[in-house]
Amino acid sequence: MSQPPASSRSLRGSIAHVTGAGSGMGRATAEIFGAEGAHVAVTDFNAASAEATAEAIRQAGGSAQAWALDVSDADQVRTVTEAIAERFGGLDILVNNAGISAFSPIDSPDYDVAWAKSLAVLLTAHQLTIRAALPWLRKSAAPRIVNIASTEALGATSRDSPYAAAKAGVTGLTRALAVELGREGITVNCICPGPILTGMTDRIPDADRATYARRRTALGRYGDPAEVGHMTVSLCLPAASFITGVTIPVDGGLMARNA
Ligand code: NAI
Repeated sequence: MSQPPASSRSLRGSIAHVTGAGSGMGRATAEIFGAEGAHVAVTDFNAASAEATAEAIRQAGGSAQAWALDVSDADQVRTVTEAIAERFGGLDILVNNAGISAFSPIDSPDYDVAWAKSLAVLLTAHQLTIRAALPWLRKSAAPRIVNIASTEALGATSRDSPYAAAKAGVTGLTRALAVELGREGITVNCICPGPILTGMTDRIPDADRATYARRRTALGRYGDPAEVGHMTVSLCLPAASFITGVTIPVDGGLMARNA
């Protein structure tokens, strides 16, 4: 188990598991952990993309291994978490990032499917990975959990209620576990990304993205996945030891803007 000093701003030797790290923000976050000297457990539903991220980290001189993992499958979550801890000798950091989009109007015939899938992947999965990681986090000198929600947890877009409900649940889970686990020194925080250029948003036509960003954000643009990754990694520093239970928008000012 790695033992960074409590005040350290270094992640060298820390062991970090990032879910959904084959693409977008998960990949960017995993690469930043790798560049900072952490051992990175790269997991994704898509085995090939997880392997590509791990290989990119290794090519850049970092330490990483990939595992295929569907975060909505409790057995897989347990097995892979154990494999990660065995491979690297523990676990210090868990980033719950994996996600899907599931737009569905409330009266759609597919609403039940979208609801069940959204809650399974976007909310239930967070408690599965956290419960699987806890035995090792409890042995870490600087245990950190970061949950990725969305600005959809704070405001809402029409026809997106399964996603918004699941993401709002993530903010509640974050607060509740921050309170429950705080005495053990485990911090639990939540990031709410705004519009970010990733696999999830790359099907939106460029002109629509530009219009949305100009009208809705203060910075007038979409964010880069690494701009979220840097916030996530910062919350995982040993020195970030007094930050817990917070929900931080990384949204280019979307939530701040009224008009
Ligand atoms: P992305 O589509 O680029 O990456 C998501 C990754 O999660 C993919 O590699 C995918 O294979 C993986 N994944 C999907 N289902 C999975 C499962 N059951 N088990 C394991 N992995 C699974 O999307 P992006 O944007 O990087 O999403 C990352 C997180 O950020 C998600 O939780 C998403 O809801 C959230 N988010 C994204 C925003 C955006 O504008 N792109 C805005 C706000 C939140």
